[in-house]
Amino acid sequence: MYRIGDAEIKRIRRLIESGKMFRYGSGGECDKFEADWSAHVGVKYTRMARSGTSALYTALVGLGIGPGDQVVVPAYTYMATALAVLAAGAIPVIADVDESLTLCPKDLVRRLTKHTRAVIPVHMVGLPCDMNAIMKVARKHKLLVLEDACQAVGGGYRGKMLGSIGDAGAFSFNFFKNITCGEGGAFVTKSKGVYDRGSVAVDCCSFYWDENPQQRRDELQFAGNNFRASEFEGAILNAQLSRLAPMLKKMRGQKKRLLKAGEKAGLVSITNHSLEDECGTHAGFLFTDEASARAFSNGLKSRGVGNFLPMDTGRHVYTRWEPIMREQGAHHAALDPFKIPANRNCKVKYTQDMCASSLGILSRTVLIGTHPDNDAQRMQSMVGAIRDAAPGL
Ligand SMILES: Cc1ncc(COP(=O)(O)O)c(C=O)c1O
Repeated sequence: MYRIGDAEIKRIRRLIESGKMFRYGSGGECDKFEADWSAHVGVKYTRMARSGTSALYTALVGLGIGPGDQVVVPAYTYMATALAVLAAGAIPVIADVDESLTLCPKDLVRRLTKHTRAVIPVHMVGLPCDMNAIMKVARKHKLLVLEDACQAVGGGYRGKMLGSIGDAGAFSFNFFKNITCGEGGAFVTKSKGVYDRGSVAVDCCSFYWDENPQQRRDELQFAGNNFRASEFEGAILNAQLSRLAPMLKKMRGQKKRLLKAGEKAGLVSITNHSLEDECGTHAGFLFTDEASARAFSNGLKSRGVGNFLPMDTGRHVYTRWEPIMREQGAHHAALDPFKIPANRNCKVKYTQDMCASSLGILSRTVLIGTHPDNDAQRMQSMVGAIRDAAPGL
């Protein structure tokens, strides 16, 4: 979360005074956000959900993913990406990330089998994946693409908005994201079919809400769920949306400045696929070994500049996705994708070193966060800290 204040308070006050908190037939805060977010991202449809996890899961339902399918996910992402695949009944297959900290297109190809139906490229820490290469692989192998843009809300890739490039995209609006309503999420798609199916998963009554009975199709009458957003989330996100683009523009500028400071100090940047369009929330430097990365990290910390090694970020590295590594795919054995007969032939073996290359990269990288409230003086001190912590590494 970067900014929240009077604009959000005013909208919430107005909402409470109206007494209309249910999203249907009320003040239209969710309707407005869905329309504005679709326009912002450049897609036809947005469906708000309760979280990034439920957005991923409902998008997978929308795409028709289920038992018998393998879905490729990167080794570096919050475990919810892989758990959403299990929630849909499918098997997650873990592939390496490369020096961009995002899915390696070459390794994606290596992990394909006749069971692979989809891939979830994850735009981690604001960094877009190599979407041109990933879409090329997807087209060649007829894979569905669900972009996980939970950590890259509002970011782009070579002139396109993240989430609009694949068949669907998912966003998180939890407290830690670029815009937030405390907890929240949404999926986007250009496809009416994906939107309709995904909407039933978001709201089990969505089929019946359709005012035009002619539109009600039997295949949409499956048992859904309830991940429906309330007008509170809609109201806060409507205020947050107007903050997003100027904030990211500022952070992109800061990131470029930090990268330049690193270059001057002899550091090597991670691969950035789209510096002009990405979120700019983190500048990353890659070292030849973990000891050098840790020395730089400690040097920055002692100079008051926060940073982290992606390897240290808990459930964001596949080796710490315990429900997957332990193959406990559901609360009940009969529902567990790892145990059901439909998945007998598409199960894979998970080992601690199955993506050793990713572990190496994640242990040798230092990420430094930018912030929209950083002023000229703060930027100067960050640049100075990079210069002073770098020598000899
Ligand atoms: C890459 C990624 N995917 C999915 C999620 C899940 O989002 P949420 O916490 O809103 O369920 C997160 C959340 O941190 C995430 O970082």
